[in-house]
Parts: sequence; C-alpha cells; structure tokens
Amino acid sequence: MFPSELTIRNVRIRPALVLAPMAGVTDTVFRHVIRGLGGCGLIMTEFTSSEGIARNRARSLHYLYFSEDEHPITAQLFGADPAVMAEAAGAVQDLGFDVVDINLGCPAKKVVKCGGSGLLRDLPLLKQILRDVRAAVTIPLTIKIRAGWDEKSIVATEVARMAEAAGVEAIAVHPRTRVQGLNGQANWSIIREVKQAVRIPVIGNGDVRRPEDAVRMAAETGCDAVMIGRAAATNPWIFRQIGQYLASGRYDEPMEADRYQLLSGYFRMLVESGMPDAIGKMKQFACWFTHGVRNGAVLRREVHSARTAAQVLERVDAFFAGVGAPAGGDA
Ligand SMILES: Cc1cc2nc3c(=O)[nH]c(=O)nc-3n(C[C@H](O)[C@H](O)[C@H](O)COP(=O)(O)O)c2cc1C
Repeated sequence: MFPSELTIRNVRIRPALVLAPMAGVTDTVFRHVIRGLGGCGLIMTEFTSSEGIARNRARSLHYLYFSEDEHPITAQLFGADPAVMAEAAGAVQDLGFDVVDINLGCPAKKVVKCGGSGLLRDLPLLKQILRDVRAAVTIPLTIKIRAGWDEKSIVATEVARMAEAAGVEAIAVHPRTRVQGLNGQANWSIIREVKQAVRIPVIGNGDVRRPEDAVRMAAETGCDAVMIGRAAATNPWIFRQIGQYLASGRYDEPMEADRYQLLSGYFRMLVESGMPDAIGKMKQFACWFTHGVRNGAVLRREVHSARTAAQVLERVDAFFAGVGAPAGGDA
C-alpha cells in the first residue's frame, strides 16, 4: 500500500511525495516548475550554510527565498556548531518555513568538515546540535541522513533513535554511505530497518527513477513517504506520473511539446528571476533534462556552447522547432 499522505506534526503533506534537496538545482525557480506540474507534496530548499546565515543573514536570504505558493516547504541547513545551527534554525522559522531540516548526508569534502555526513562520525556532537536546534524552534524539525560513513559504520538506526529521542519529527533516509557518494545502489533494506526502529515518519530516498520504483520502495520498506531527487531533474513529471500510476496502473509520458514548453518556460523564468549564474543553471539543467529527448545530445552540445542566456533560449527554440515528432529515446 502506498501512503496516501504524510503528516509531520501539523504539516500535512499530500501526496506523500517529497522533492529531495539538491544544491544548485532546487532553487525557487525549479521548485516553481515542480509545484506547477503537480503531484509533489513537499518541497525542500537546497542545503544552506548555517555559518553563512549567522555571518551574513542578508546574503543567505537569497538561498532561502521562497514564494507563498511553495508551501509546504522545508529549509535545509548544514553546519556543525550547535549554537550557530540553532541561530540559523531560528532565522528559518522567522522566514515562515513550515519545517527545518538538518543535512546529515552531504559527502562533499568541504561540507564534511563542517557538518553534513561528517556528523555521522561524531554522534555526541550531533546529539548536541539536535538538542540545541530543537530548543530554538517551534516548527517541526526533520533530518536527512545517509546510511553511515562507510560500510563498516552503518549508523542509520542509531541516529534515527537518537533523533527521535531529541524531538526530531521525521527522518529521510538515503541509504548509501558517505564513501559511496552517488555510486552503487541505495540499500533500501536500511530504510526498512530505520522504519522498524522508530515511531516518527520515515521518508525513503534513493534510486527512485520511475513511478514503479516509488511503489516498490513503499512496499519493500514500509516508508511513510518517498523522496525523489535526480529523477525529478530528468523527468519533472514523475510526481504526477506516480499519482496516475497509483490511480490507474498507467501513466502519461510527456510529449515533445511538453518538454519544449517546460524547458523554455523554465529557462525564461531563470532569466527573469535575475538568479546569479542563470546561464550555468541552464547548461546544467539541459544536461539532466535532455536525456529523455530525442537527439538530446545535439541539444546538450548547442546549449553548452552558448555564450549568453538569450543564445540558449534561441537554440532551445530552434532545436524543438526542428523536432516536432512525438517523444522518443535519446540517441
Ligand atoms: C546535484 C545534487 C545535489 C544534491 N544536494 C543535496 C543537498 O543540498 N542536500 C541533501 O540533503 N542532499 C543533496 N543531494 C542528495 C539528494 O537529495 C538525494 O539524497 C540523492 O540524490 C539520492 O536520491 P535520488 O536517487 O532520488 O537522486 C544532492 C544530490 C544531487 C544529485
């Protein structure tokens, strides 16, 4: 059975599907696209440095910008100083976020030194952070973890129990180790173990690429919601497709025209938003998104060699004007 909704204290998440935080991807413009397509119950910001918020709140606010139609929305923080994390969580609450989340999964070297998955190796410090952040906010507090640092130190259930005792109200589990990065396969049995170890909701994450995977993850792990990352960037329709699949056992594939509309609409919004590095984001998204597009490699090359945002838009228009036919696979 797929959960019909997820409730994190007073926050109702329906359907029980969550957009995973992805640095450089899930900014307000991308989240807007996901909200617009429908089917996603909860969205999350990219991870944001607590030190950055404490040092220069005005500058960090840019990362934490969201619009009213994004609710319910979680802000994700990283950091390793309990007092700074508590201060940043307070700022997140003041900004009107529904939930604050602590990143315990980021494998990047410079983040590990100051939080992220590095905290999975220092549980006493993690406990202090959870306590201090919990005391600093009244909005729901969640965490997102990896399985552990490496395969010899799988701490997911231990961390989940500790978090529950500290007042954390839901936990997302991406069952890869820090050492694995995004390689290998997510070990969903760890999601099931965490689910069996705690009473708070458990959100399963990792390698959900198609609607069938989401349903299988819920069935195999008993998780209370499914979180999707990379597949949402390559196929932003996936949340809606899961709803269709649950209702009827089948789902629509986007047509070439839908892909064109989405890509050009998203790029235009990026330019209009005045987002720093809009062109970099366009290039990155084009790379992810065009894997399902016929002759996607051609479009990727065209977008990558563009020098201005206007040129990117022109090339996207020209590419799709020449395609016309129904969607097929990437060449
Ligand atoms: C480009 C990229 C950026 C990411 N940034 C974050 C982040 O800011 N915070 C976080 O908790 N996880 C981050 N992740 C991990 C994802 O949230 C997710 O756990 C991981 O991609 C596995 O899920 P998936 O198989 O559905 O992609 C990132 C992943 C990618 C690919």
